Amino acid sequence: MKGIILAGGAGTRLYPATLAANKQLLAVYDKPMIYYPLSVLMTAGLRDILIISSPEALPAYRRLFGDGAALGLNMAYAEQPRPDGLAQAFLIGERFLEGGPGALILGDNLFFGAGMTELLARARRRSIGATVFAYEVEDPTAYGVVEMGPDGRALGIEEKPAKPRSNLAVTGLYFYDQEVCALARTLTPSARGELEITDLNRLYLEAGRLHVERLGRGYAWLDTGAHDSLLEAAEFVRALQKRQGVYIACLEEIAFHQGFIDRDQLRARGEALKASDYGRYLLRLADAARA
Ligand code: G1P
Repeated sequence: MKGIILAGGAGTRLYPATLAANKQLLAVYDKPMIYYPLSVLMTAGLRDILIISSPEALPAYRRLFGDGAALGLNMAYAEQPRPDGLAQAFLIGERFLEGGPGALILGDNLFFGAGMTELLARARRRSIGATVFAYEVEDPTAYGVVEMGPDGRALGIEEKPAKPRSNLAVTGLYFYDQEVCALARTLTPSARGELEITDLNRLYLEAGRLHVERLGRGYAWLDTGAHDSLLEAAEFVRALQKRQGVYIACLEEIAFHQGFIDRDQLRARGEALKASDYGRYLLRLADAARA
């Protein structure tokens, strides 16, 4: 399975911070925002990653990740000329997916929780249908909202409903089978002029092939789309990292544990970044691995 990160959008709620910089390159505490969603795809074991962003922002992502070799990844890049909706990722990414299944994650979504590895493995193992992740929020009106029946099956899914039928927001992480590009091609723009991911998910639901995984209270799903939520996410990362001494979304650490890179590559990255705590953390990991 391959993975797509959609790092588009104008980030208007973060103006003026995003007037000249792409939102997903802004720091969440100590690392670029896009590290967090990339860490999720890597934790799922995915190594072929497509980053989709605006023509202006793509060069910065290329500078950040290059061909991906430093992380043991194969990185590809594609332009989304205009933010015409999340489902467009599967029109832009059709060649990249080569007819296979694909996971999509939004570049501004931050997930945290001890059970993520198993949850991701389960979603990845499903060869038929789609998997989305539902998270209880106080105010779901800004999100896709899924209604669940007593048997755990999805009854309906709506985008940004004024009167939500549940408090279950659909997070920005999606796993799809190999039908996804063909289905995305059948979508038409919504009232707000976008190819909606929720419409794509509804096609799976109507076919009885939408799996909804609940992210329970042991998980954090954080929004980074506005100034306060961005700062809160940064404080969350800082608090955990300082307290535990263990980093969230440390890409080289994940790459090492997944066997994508070896200890020497881990050490080399640590050396390159050692002016920062992040770099020194990598060096400590490399030392510990030697013992
Ligand atoms: C998008 C999706 C929405 C989803 C959300 C998760 O909303 O359209 O269904 O719940 O991402 O972050 P947007 O960020 O485009 O408002």
